[in-house]
Amino acid sequence: MSAASSVYSRKNPFPAQLAVRRSLTGSSSGKETLHFEVSLSGSGLAYEVGDSLGIFPANDAAGVNAVLSAAGLTGEEPVESAGTNLREVLTHQVTLREPSRQLLAAILEKCPSAAELAELTDPEAKSVMDDWVDGREVVDILESYPQARFTPDELVKVLRKLQPRLYSIASSPKAHPEAVHLTVAVVRYELHGRQRQGVCSTYLADRVESRPMPVFIHSAKHFRPPEDPAVPVIMVGPGTGIAPFRAFLQEREATGATGPAWLFFGDRNRATDFLYEEEIKAWLERGVLHRLDTAFSRDQAEKVYVQHRMLENGAEIWRWLAQGAYFYVCGDAARMAKDVDDALHRIVKVEGGKTDEEAAAFVGELKKAKRYRKDVY
Ligand SMILES: Cc1cc2nc3c(=O)[nH]c(=O)nc-3n(C[C@H](O)[C@H](O)[C@H](O)COP(=O)(O)OP(=O)(O)OC[C@H]3O[C@@H](n4cnc5c(N)ncnc54)[C@H](O)[C@@H]3O)c2cc1C
Ligand SMILES: NC(=O)c1ccc[n+]([C@@H]2O[C@H](COP(=O)([O-])OP(=O)(O)OC[C@H]3O[C@@H](n4cnc5c(N)ncnc54)[C@H](OP(=O)(O)O)[C@@H]3O)[C@@H](O)[C@H]2O)c1
Repeated sequence: MSAASSVYSRKNPFPAQLAVRRSLTGSSSGKETLHFEVSLSGSGLAYEVGDSLGIFPANDAAGVNAVLSAAGLTGEEPVESAGTNLREVLTHQVTLREPSRQLLAAILEKCPSAAELAELTDPEAKSVMDDWVDGREVVDILESYPQARFTPDELVKVLRKLQPRLYSIASSPKAHPEAVHLTVAVVRYELHGRQRQGVCSTYLADRVESRPMPVFIHSAKHFRPPEDPAVPVIMVGPGTGIAPFRAFLQEREATGATGPAWLFFGDRNRATDFLYEEEIKAWLERGVLHRLDTAFSRDQAEKVYVQHRMLENGAEIWRWLAQGAYFYVCGDAARMAKDVDDALHRIVKVEGGKTDEEAAAFVGELKKAKRYRKDVY
């Protein structure tokens, strides 16, 4: 059965049960990366390796209470436009993290003396507002302007809709037809004098409990394993970027894929952050995975990243590419994926004896032939 033949979709998410939650990082790690297993039993939903799971999170009660208190409201007030009370709307329907221009404009309307807001809400100065709002939450703004009073409907109208988050599926349906596995880095940090937390990663880590969570399958046709199981694959997945490659390896084992597979994995420290270490080593021993190169960035004074390991193995990567290898990257888009792309260009240039332009053209051809596949965020 395909996802399309289920009654469940993004518009009608499946109320799924969280079946397993366990830590992948050691207790002394500076990170908190968790493994989840979500049951799809009874949903009719199916997925393919490379897909992601969409999750509609709920805001945490403390954050909702802080907004209610800053707004001078109790949460029991009905919100006519939503057909439920304010606490429900603030918990499930709006984000309390990214304040909208409309919220600032509404406060300015209620407090015309707040001159600094006039500049921020000037449509010509969008970047000024973006910089100011960056990192601030709805509660920060409401607390700064206690004189601005909103009715529940007015408040809800100027808050942004709570959006679902996507997570790469870390399992193969051939190994786990009724469940999806996820690898999630929990977002917690301090900013502007307040402890902050990512909505969905902490929802999964702290708040799902036994209540069902609304989920859907997000198809990723651009990120499937090679159609031909004899083709070599190079997978670069530091941090949570490992997730789809765990799925690829489960799938390779289930289908007996014959092409060689090479994994580059990295994280902060080997002792605490080698996600799925035992499984990966067992795949190496069983010949499901043929090469593994790791980069633990904080085990030595100098940072060592996956792209450094790629460059150390440039000649071999070039040989694999010449044999038709597919090149996959998953994980951080802001820095890692760019640096890995640079490393790939450099390898093609140096090992392939090409100019910058020829190397760029070669990588361009890889992309065109769909042999360079990325899922980065
Ligand atoms: C296709 C796809 C696949 C993905 N797969 C995975 C996956 O397998 N595993 C995974 O963990 N994530 C994955 N993600 C990311 C995931 O969707 C969420 O974005 C992530 O979990 C954060 O969501 P959140 O709701 O917890 O945080 P949010 O509430 O969305 O907050 C995140 C925001 O907080 C801010 N922030 C975070 N840290 C700091 C800091 N230290 N200082 C200042 N600001 C900060 C940044 O603005 C950041 O954008 C994927 C994303 C996509 C698009
Ligand atoms: N904002 C933050 O402070 C922060 C921190 C961690 C995670 N996160 C968020 O958590 C989510 C998932 O994190 P994650 O576990 O997937 O990854 P991650 O914690 O961002 O990184 C995993 C590994 O990649 C390394 N790395 C950092 N910059 C790199 C680069 N330019 N090239 C290659 N490797 C690089 C990291 O090293 P070093 O960390 O030692 O540099 C670490 O060893 C992301 O959404 C990320 O934004 C945010």
